[in-house]
Amino acid sequence: MEGVEELLDDHKELLRKVADIQRCASQRGKGLEDAAGVFFEDYYSHSVREERGLYRALWDRSRELRPLLESLLDEHKRVVELSFQLKKAFEHVQDDPVRLEMVARNLANHTASHFAREERNLFPEAQRLLSP
Ligand SMILES: [Fe+2]
Ligand SMILES: [Fe+2]
Repeated sequence: MEGVEELLDDHKELLRKVADIQRCASQRGKGLEDAAGVFFEDYYSHSVREERGLYRALWDRSRELRPLLESLLDEHKRVVELSFQLKKAFEHVQDDPVRLEMVARNLANHTASHFAREERNLFPEAQRLLSP
């Protein structure tokens, strides 16, 4: 199973990519399609690896962690919804450029707070419970 170190590297990389989305959003969506394509693809693959690896392993080992895992899974799903909101805001950027910036900010905040929760509450438990 993939270790916490790799997941932490992914987080840093994904935070850079979501910052790119915000930068494009502040320029009326210039370059946004490419930036968003890269971010959502990588975010999806990161969360699938977490769900099949770390989350599943912790689910089996700790009943106490299950409510946290369920809440983190909901946050993974919420990113899909935010991707639709971003797409829609991008399509209407000429009428409402502020909305695009707002949705991009929501996405960046959501991503940062999800990673912070994993890093603060989940990864230390993973290292405690799953290390040989
Ligand atoms: Fe995650
Ligand atoms: Fe993560």
